[in-house]
Amino acid sequence: MNDTYDKHILEVSNLCKIYHKGKIEIPAVKDISYKFHNGQIISIVGKSGSGKSTLLNLIGGLDVATSGQILINGKDLIKMSRYELALHRRFLVGMVFQSFNLIHSRNALQNVTLALAFGGVPRKDRKEKAAELLKSVGLEQRLYHKPAELSGGEAQRVAIARALANNPKVLLADELTGNLDSSTSKEIIDLLMNLNKEKNLTILMVTHDIETAERVSDNVIRLKDGMVISD
Ligand SMILES: Nc1ncnc2c1ncn2[C@@H]1O[C@H](COP(=O)(O)OP(=O)(O)OP(=O)(O)O)[C@@H](O)[C@H]1O
Ligand SMILES: [Mg+2]
Repeated sequence: MNDTYDKHILEVSNLCKIYHKGKIEIPAVKDISYKFHNGQIISIVGKSGSGKSTLLNLIGGLDVATSGQILINGKDLIKMSRYELALHRRFLVGMVFQSFNLIHSRNALQNVTLALAFGGVPRKDRKEKAAELLKSVGLEQRLYHKPAELSGGEAQRVAIARALANNPKVLLADELTGNLDSSTSKEIIDLLMNLNKEKNLTILMVTHDIETAERVSDNVIRLKDGMVISD
């Protein structure tokens, strides 16, 4: 494993997730194995219900796998203690979602400073660092706007800045352009491509937009009924 460890920040093997609803078993992810190369953009596509979000949530540590392995930075997520899992969520992965998930009562700057606080950045440094992050996503003119006072594209930029606050190795994006019009979507995708290049950030994104997936990503994972059909 160690020789691949430099090349592959993330590796899943024989990953399975079965949900239980009453007596019914729902196999959402079925025996997925995949090595994610450092610094690549990888898209996950597939019909609704094919397991895309489940796969992303397992890797993000938001959900617990039924069996298999998720090796991130050489450690198996499935064997991590609660504390290690919290560190994983804080420092190794950043997550962005279709619905932004910002805190509505806080402005852009505060949404980002909060993530920095969780990451242990000293209070005196947070504001400057948050402003820098927001500048890097093109929002230096919107620091004091609350989410309701931002456009969808701007709100998603705040969410991206927040996800990057603690320098994650992998950015996980679940349909982050799903609520945006096509030109705003393109801007957000361009932003991701720049971050990928500038920071060598590994990006794993779920999308319904196969054309964009094929245009921007190094690899496309196609899911059907929880299984990879090709990559
Ligand atoms: N918490 C849950 N409990 C039970 N079943 C679930 C749960 N979450 C997801 N599922 C089921 O698992 C399957 C995969 O769901 P998932 O959300 O991963 O699909 P998806 O590919 O992201 O779909 P979409 O494109 O609609 O977002 C679906 O059949 C769904 O109904
Ligand atoms: Mg989904």
